[in-house]
Amino acid sequence: MPQLIPPHPRFHASFLSAIEEFRAAGPLSDWAAHVDYEAVRGQEGFAAYVRDLDLRRVASAERSVPESTLFWIEGEEFLGRIAVRHRLNERLEVMGGHIGYAIRPGAQGKGHATALLRAVLPLAYAVGIDDALLTTDPDNHGSRRVIEKCGGRLVKQGPDHCYYRLRTGGAAEV
Ligand SMILES: CC(C)(COP(=O)(O)OP(=O)(O)OC[C@H]1O[C@@H](n2cnc3c(N)ncnc32)[C@H](O)[C@@H]1OP(=O)(O)O)[C@@H](O)C(=O)NCCC(=O)NCCS
Repeated sequence: MPQLIPPHPRFHASFLSAIEEFRAAGPLSDWAAHVDYEAVRGQEGFAAYVRDLDLRRVASAERSVPESTLFWIEGEEFLGRIAVRHRLNERLEVMGGHIGYAIRPGAQGKGHATALLRAVLPLAYAVGIDDALLTTDPDNHGSRRVIEKCGGRLVKQGPDHCYYRLRTGGAAEV
């Protein structure tokens, strides 16, 4: 059973192969597109990336908010990642919401994203989020299904984004 584990330099090789899978599968998801592949290719660069994740804040014109990232790991294999933004800012209210996730292409279609999102809800609850906002492209049917399977309620739909609310409390079962 995969586990949520804090990012660690020991996942370097598996993380790199996941990014290579995203690049080969293309077009890149937002998250994979933001990883600077050249910077993380070396062990030291990846260690610096991991350190930065620990301090990461999501900025907008108005304010920045803390973000906690966890890896979804089976054995020593990196399967995906999930990030919890502790609060919303102007930017995240429009796009991004409280929680963002990605599963490496080779591991998709096996229920990982659903298990990953369920598994992170207690952490979201612990940082003070009761009713998480999740946003997704209307045509991202996989992500929409993941959110709905976890109990997300569609609260608004625009041309570019769907907005879901998902209660975090009492969701400790994975
Ligand atoms: C979207 C994503 C997270 C789904 O991950 P996953 O591990 O394959 O999802 P799961 O296996 O848990 O699938 C959950 C449900 O979604 C469905 N699903 C998954 N991908 C799908 C797709 N591309 N189209 C339609 N349904 C899809 C599954 O069939 C399953 O539904 P079911 O149980 O009724 O059969 C993954 O494709 C991904 O990382 N994409 C790139 C990043 C991204 O889009 N992140 C979300 C940003 S909002």
